[in-house]
Amino acid sequence: MNENISKVAIVTGASRGIGAAVARRLARDGFTVVINYAGDVAAAEALARDIDASGGHALAAQADVSDPVAVRQLFDAAESAFGGVDVLVNNAGIMQLANLADADDAAFDRQIAVNLKGSFNTLREASTRLRAGGRIINFSSSVVGLLQPGYGIYAATKAAVEAMTSVLAKELRGRNITVNAVAPGPTATDLFLNGKSPELIDRLARLAPLERLGQPEDIADVVAFLAGADGGWVNGQVLRANGGII
Ligand SMILES: NC(=O)c1ccc[n+]([C@@H]2O[C@H](COP(=O)([O-])OP(=O)(O)OC[C@H]3O[C@@H](n4cnc5c(N)ncnc54)[C@H](OP(=O)(O)O)[C@@H]3O)[C@@H](O)[C@H]2O)c1
Repeated sequence: MNENISKVAIVTGASRGIGAAVARRLARDGFTVVINYAGDVAAAEALARDIDASGGHALAAQADVSDPVAVRQLFDAAESAFGGVDVLVNNAGIMQLANLADADDAAFDRQIAVNLKGSFNTLREASTRLRAGGRIINFSSSVVGLLQPGYGIYAATKAAVEAMTSVLAKELRGRNITVNAVAPGPTATDLFLNGKSPELIDRLARLAPLERLGQPEDIADVVAFLAGADGGWVNGQVLRANGGII
């Protein structure tokens, strides 16, 4: 018997990239999936149709995670469609690179709003609304360890997410809910590829001892482990999934 059947997972930022791969994988594992997106309704609805056509259950739900009211409505929508929420995958995120000397206020504010406040908004809802046995999987990044020039603001938002991960794991004592973070390395999605030359992509791909970029499915496998029965004893941890880059 598949213990995930009847469990409901919200995946933020699931219209493309890692989030879409996570939604597909969790649906394959038996979860009913809420595909959150910010702007790309067509991609999110196409993914939901695809999952339904493969025998799964999915709903596309718009919400900018930086907006606390929209996030509350996202959880409302999941509860009214499916009766409750068991898993939150806090995947939505943006990256705008610049050395600190050159970074503008708008880039700082937006990365804080989406990556940090967005994670806070969903964690606050999940803290009171996830059913017993639930799982929360946040998204950090291996740049928190690599700390290269240009990544200052982005890495700071992800370090903050790691801090909230450990704190919330303790705050949920007694609820039988785990809180962990996944910290991918370079992964072949728009977020990583856009704006980089083929030469730079090739150089970054070879940094890990496994000498390739991560694929969204590599990260989805790790999320599926933490969301499923096998990951049940892992709590308050950051799992770096990066081919060994750090
Ligand atoms: N790719 C990497 O190399 C890498 C490495 C380490 C960590 N990560 C982290 O992994 C996560 C996924 O990244 P990705 O590479 O898959 O990114 P991506 O390809 O750029 O996709 C981002 C997704 O997030 C959604 N999104 C953006 N802003 C949002 C908002 N305010 N509210 C709700 N959804 C929003 C987008 O939806 P719309 O299209 O609808 O706007 C899209 O579905 C992020 O947290 C990122 O920081 C990625």
